[in-house]
Amino acid sequence: MTASDYVLEMNGISKNFPGVKALDNVSIKVRPGSVHALMGENGAGKSTLMKCLFGIYEIDEGEVILGGKKVEFSGAKDALRSGISMIQQELLPIPYRSVMENLWLGRYPVHGLGPFQFVNHKKMLEDTKAIFEELNMDIDPTTWVVNLSVSKIQSMEIAKAVSYKSRIIIMDEPTSSLTENEVEHLFRIIRKLREEGVAIIYISHKMEEILQISDEVSIMRDGQLVGTYPAAELTTDLIINKMVGRDMGHRFPPRDNVPGQVVLKVEDFTSPEPKSFKHVSFDLRKGEILGVSGLVGAQRTELMEALFGLRPVQSGTVELNGERLRFKSPSEAISRKMALLTEERRSTGIFPILAVQDNVLAANWKSYVKRNFLLDLKRCDTDVTRSIDMLRVKTPSSRTFMQNLSGGNQQKVIFSRWLLTDPEILILDEPTRGIDVGAKFEIYTIIADLAKRGKSIIMISSELPEILGMSDRIMVMCEGRMTGILEGKSASQEEIMRLSTQFM
Ligand SMILES: Nc1ncnc2c1ncn2[C@@H]1O[C@H](COP(=O)(O)OP(=O)(O)OP(=O)(O)O)[C@@H](O)[C@H]1O
Ligand SMILES: [Mg+2]
Repeated sequence: MTASDYVLEMNGISKNFPGVKALDNVSIKVRPGSVHALMGENGAGKSTLMKCLFGIYEIDEGEVILGGKKVEFSGAKDALRSGISMIQQELLPIPYRSVMENLWLGRYPVHGLGPFQFVNHKKMLEDTKAIFEELNMDIDPTTWVVNLSVSKIQSMEIAKAVSYKSRIIIMDEPTSSLTENEVEHLFRIIRKLREEGVAIIYISHKMEEILQISDEVSIMRDGQLVGTYPAAELTTDLIINKMVGRDMGHRFPPRDNVPGQVVLKVEDFTSPEPKSFKHVSFDLRKGEILGVSGLVGAQRTELMEALFGLRPVQSGTVELNGERLRFKSPSEAISRKMALLTEERRSTGIFPILAVQDNVLAANWKSYVKRNFLLDLKRCDTDVTRSIDMLRVKTPSSRTFMQNLSGGNQQKVIFSRWLLTDPEILILDEPTRGIDVGAKFEIYTIIADLAKRGKSIIMISSELPEILGMSDRIMVMCEGRMTGILEGKSASQEEIMRLSTQFM
């Protein structure tokens, strides 16, 4: 095969950050008109490799050959001009701007001449409509981004990347917040782009997606390339084996928690918003793991946020250990030993320019104050170190800025933050989203262990295997209503799917 069979070659790429060798002599070759998946555990170097390609990071060693020519980009603008676009893992839209302004940022259509140029809003609107129409997306171009759901923002970013008409599109976990229909839709878009000769570099932790959409798969481990394989030769087990470097055996830990008496009783919970949750009743036992299943949009997050005092409720009652309560703010819930691990960690959960340590302690720092004004630094240190070790967070030190951690490792930090508050009731909203298989197992083990120690857990998850593998009971929701509660042991995927789509 000659060089020109590839639209892109990255040869011997190395990249160091202070204290970390993020990339060590990595080479990948990408064919035009193909989907090339990139897989690896959290912190393996996937995003870094793509940021090197996209001109966000400078490469320490190695070369990038694009369409047979060596290139060096000094920024994302350069890369875009050369026909590479990227959907980044961290979505960073400008919230108080319209969808169309976000879409054309830095390349607004203008009219007029020289210094008398004005943004051509009419053309911008038309162009935006045309793109959404072509991609069959239902988003209002004039609405502010702050009003969009995460899944719509992700769709908008997809449209934006496609709108550059690039020959290479990098997608770094594009489906992390998409509904199943939206994923299907994205796959149709990807197949069409592939037919047109576009190369897609696709990063995801979802094995099923990878096997379904990709032509070739490159697997990375600890900053090195393990190898590139035709997707047809791979299976889930083979991928895991190459990613982790060992056989995983079981995907879920054994559980020996025994659910006890009811600790939380929710009755007839109803939101003031018409499209949100209605008449939801359920209870939660001590030492129980209650899975909450449903399609994206089933209002599971809204329900739990309302329970936690983050949203208003119109009617309904809550009993906590026999006491009637309704939280008006999260701090009330926290003082009653409840914790909520939010779904959208990247926008609501992390403090990017604070150190990992501060992020771990954020929900709990008051308990480290001694003699009323001094922080007990030693205890801070011990607890942070223990948390980092327990969840195997990959970070050079606890002083590293949060924003320098890989996406999945940021997630683990937030998890440890809530564990330190020592809650009795833990609400986990998609606790393993964006987390690799090995780390998932670690998180499942922690959840199982918490339940065994008598903590009660509500786990919202869109991954059916996870729901089935971890729950004592499963509550299913559809369009704001509870459609059933199943016993974890006897529940089946089909039954959950049927209840999830009951009103559709
Ligand atoms: N700007 C940065 N400064 C310092 N270290 C960084 C920076 N960006 C990434 N790293 C480190 O480089 C390593 C690779 O991170 P990268 O984000 O590429 O992982 P990833 O494979 O994308 O993981 P994930 O699946 O969690 O997104 C990690 O150890 C990370 O902490
Ligand atoms: Mg990443």
